[in-house]
Amino acid sequence: MVNIPWWSKIIAKIILNRLPFGYKFWQKLGLFRHGKMDNSAYVIGVFNSHCERAGLKGELKDRVILELGPGDSIATAIVAASHGAKTILLDSGKYASQDVNLYKFFAENLRDIGLKPPDLSEAENIEDILDLCGSYYYTRGLSSLKAIEKNSIDLIFSQAVLEHIREHEFQETMVECKRVLKNYGIASHRIDLKDHLGGGLNNLRFSNRVWESSSFVRSGFYTNRIRYSRMVSLMEEAGFTIELVKVDRWDTIPLAKSKLATEFAHLCDDDLLIKGFDVILR
Ligand SMILES: C[S@@+](CC[C@H](N)C(=O)[O-])C[C@H]1O[C@@H](n2cnc3c(N)ncnc32)[C@H](O)[C@@H]1O
Repeated sequence: MVNIPWWSKIIAKIILNRLPFGYKFWQKLGLFRHGKMDNSAYVIGVFNSHCERAGLKGELKDRVILELGPGDSIATAIVAASHGAKTILLDSGKYASQDVNLYKFFAENLRDIGLKPPDLSEAENIEDILDLCGSYYYTRGLSSLKAIEKNSIDLIFSQAVLEHIREHEFQETMVECKRVLKNYGIASHRIDLKDHLGGGLNNLRFSNRVWESSSFVRSGFYTNRIRYSRMVSLMEEAGFTIELVKVDRWDTIPLAKSKLATEFAHLCDDDLLIKGFDVILR
């Protein structure tokens, strides 16, 4: 396989993003995608892992689940409905596939493994599917989150999403998550701290001014670059108690410290070694 240098991905994506084609076009080519939620096994695996961690396995009937950043599909609504739960899917754009047949096929897959998804045979569009699942899909990010009723959610989960929330919105997003969770509600998050340019730390080479500029933010490789210790502190400041499930580390820091932008020069080795983590928040 050809090893494409990290910097050429930045150049290519900035140029491609300026061309007059919408997200659907690039999604079909596989060049810009928001995750893997259009793959049945992946959706079921992600859903089960977060429910199990939250201790809700077999306890989902009548629960309300909030998925942050569902990406390319609304399939979580269908798997949750198979367990008697309702879902609010909340993203920062309308990225979910509108292909009704994809969701009908997904429901068949659920039946094959013994679950009882709603009958989607009459659904003509994704609004019908959401209705049949008693679920909602909101796509205005933090503004949508602010509109959710307080103390209304049993489980919040996200998979490879928190690192994509704009840096200046992260803390408020955590505060809003705390507000919408019921008293005994639980949040479960998987956070990927690798750069989205090749899986290293090349994103830390850039100053905030460049990285937070609109051409970088809109080009599909944006991550907020909030490292582990700060992210955990921001979660605690929002009022959460933290339970770490798993912390993944590189053996060696994947970027020479001399290459770090000034903003990251103070980071300790352990913060630079952590490439991802799973956390439960209460
Ligand atoms: C890498 S994709 C992951 C998608 C999906 N969770 C998966 O595992 O395939 C990151 C997702 O986070 C979403 N996102 C970014 N900022 C967000 C925000 N403020 N609120 C909710 N979702 C957000 C993106 O639009 C995108 O759908």
